[in-house]
Formats: sequence, structure tokens, C-alpha cells
Amino acid sequence: MRGKSRKGRMEVEETDRLGIHREPKERWGRAEFWRCVDLKRNKKHLRKGLEKIEMLGLPWNKEDRRLKGKIALITGAASGVGECTAKLFAEHGAKIVVADVQDQLGQSVCDVIGSSNSKYVHCDVTNEEDVKNAVDTTVSAYGKLDIMFCNAGIADPNKARIMDVEKADFQRLLDVNVLGVFLSMKHAARVMVPARAGSIISMASLASNIGGAASHAYCCSKHAVAGLTKNLAAELGQFGIRVNCLSPYAIDTPLSTRSVGLKDEALENLVSSYANLKGVTLKTDDVANAALFLVSEEAKYISGQNLHIDGGLGIMNSSFGLFKYPDN
Ligand SMILES: NC(=O)c1ccc[n+]([C@@H]2O[C@H](COP(=O)([O-])OP(=O)(O)OC[C@H]3O[C@@H](n4cnc5c(N)ncnc54)[C@H](O)[C@@H]3O)[C@@H](O)[C@H]2O)c1
Repeated sequence: MRGKSRKGRMEVEETDRLGIHREPKERWGRAEFWRCVDLKRNKKHLRKGLEKIEMLGLPWNKEDRRLKGKIALITGAASGVGECTAKLFAEHGAKIVVADVQDQLGQSVCDVIGSSNSKYVHCDVTNEEDVKNAVDTTVSAYGKLDIMFCNAGIADPNKARIMDVEKADFQRLLDVNVLGVFLSMKHAARVMVPARAGSIISMASLASNIGGAASHAYCCSKHAVAGLTKNLAAELGQFGIRVNCLSPYAIDTPLSTRSVGLKDEALENLVSSYANLKGVTLKTDDVANAALFLVSEEAKYISGQNLHIDGGLGIMNSSFGLFKYPDN
């Protein structure tokens, strides 16, 4: 279905995941009705969304929503993993604050989620005032902050020789990927500690675990995020606040496209050729689902963990070639 959409990005994402396209209910004016276009069977339905969407396994039933009543602030939610997670968290009943530097894209994510359930705030995570403002805006709009997802990040093109890496480029990447996460965690903690509740997740990478998978700056930044996550989990456990991070393998997003120079199928084919787990392709949905698990009640005793979403790539060394089946 990818690439054949006539209605743009949301249709592609929804179609990939469910085989249907749903339009935001606001467009139809009545809360109970969703238009479901079953692209597989080429039929159109206008009916009570409850029946159709439940059938397909969406958390339409209020009891199945895992983040009902929760308030989540997600940095870097205008695009890629953050955007996908914002939509998934909203489907699960959370109110979302989208924080990013891409104002138009960020606002369009909120338009899809719905203005009653989301808010956009301009926030450069390297600027402490912006981060403070994003947290304060969340609390003043929705009364609290339950979930902080420190997701914003950048990547740089790899340079084969350390001698060619400019100090300013190295510094810039660390500013966004490390200082940005630190500031986001700091200001989340500022409001979560008095509330004695909350869940913080940050975005690391496969590069937080192994060397040789990304540039020096990126590898360094993601190791730092994993370390900061552990340290903060140690500090905030006494207040009942959990802190974890996610470490995905490569996914097709604007970040990886910019850094690898390939996109769509070409990027996914390259990524799959290096993967350990064959027959599946890592998507933003998979990372969003892992984030949902970590912030939900199902993970209520999990803290200080770095959850790898890498199909086992980070725990193996393929150069030994021990398990090559003779007929392969
Ligand atoms: N795509 C991958 O292959 C991959 C793999 C592992 C980890 N990650 C991590 O996932 C996270 C999300 O990346 P993505 O792949 O969705 O890329 P993306 O480029 O689609 O999204 C990143 C978002 O962060 C925002 N951002 C960048 N700098 C910012 C700043 N200073 N302040 C606020 N927002 C800022 C961007 O505007 C963008 O919306 C990053 O931390 C990245 O390192 C990505």
C-alpha cells in the first residue's frame, strides 16, 4: 500500500498498520461516527466506528485504552517516531503536548489528533527556557504531567576518520541529543517529584550498546542517554517515578534518510541486509508500541532499563558466522 495513497501520510500510516484509513472524527462532527475506508476490500462504510474499529483490534473500547486520563509531553513529535507515538498515545486516551522546532508539522500532528486532545508548543530542547515553558504549558493546560518522552534527536553523516570530524559538529549533536534529554528530564522531574508520580522515557539507539553502528558523536550521545536514564532511575525511584529508554535499530524516518542518503524501500532494504532478524522490517509503529508498553501500567515495576528494539542485532557478532545453515 505504501506510496499508493491519494490522501497523504496519515492514510499511508493507518493503512500499513490496520488495512484501513480512519479520518479524524472532528471532520464528521459527531463523536460516534468514523468513516472507515477498507482499502483491502475497496468498500466504504459510514457506520458506528465502535463496531468496525473494535473488530480490527484498535483500543476503541474505553476500557482497553491504556493511557486513559494521562498527560504526555513528547519532544520531537512533529515527525518520525515522535509523531507516531503521539498518535498512538492519543488513541490510547492520553492528552498530548507536541514539542518541536518544526512548527507547521507539529501543528499538523495536533490537527490530526484533535484540538481537544492535544496542543503544540514550540520547543528547542537545547534551550532551557523553551523546555521549561513546554513543561509549564502542559501543566497549566492539563493540570499535570504523567509522561515525558525525551525523543527529539538529530544524526550526522558518518565520517570515516575522526580527524575529519569538526568540533562544532560534534558539539551540536551532543547539544541536541544529550543536553536536550538532560533538560527535558530535569524539567519533567521538577513537576513529577512533588506529584510523586510519573514515567520518563528517553530515546537512545542501537548505537547506545555497540560501536561501529553510527558516527562518533551519535554513538557517544546515545551511550550518554542510556547512562543518564540509569542514573535518573536511581534518583527518582524514591518518588515512584520510573525512567527508561528505548534503543531501536534503524527506521525509515527523515533523520535516517538525511544521514544515510537513502529513503523508503532503498533504505529499508539496506537496513534489512544488516539485520539479525529476517522477514520483518522495523517501523515507527514498533517503537511507538514499545514506548506505550514502558509508560503503561503493564510496566509498573520496570525502571532503569534500556529496551532494545533491534531484533537481537545488538547482542550478536555476526563475524563468527556460527549458525549458517548449510542449505542457505
Ligand atoms: N530513525 C532511526 O533510524 C533511529 C534509530 C534509533 C534511534 N532514533 C532516535 O529516534 C529519535 C527520533 O528520531 P526520528 O528517527 O523519528 O527522526 P525525525 O527527524 O523524523 O524526528 C526527529 C524530530 O526531532 C525534532 N528536533 C530536532 N532537533 C530538535 C531540537 N533541538 N528541539 C526540538 N526538536 C528537535 C525534529 O524537528 C523532528 O521532528 C531521535 O532521538 C533519534 O536519534 C532514530
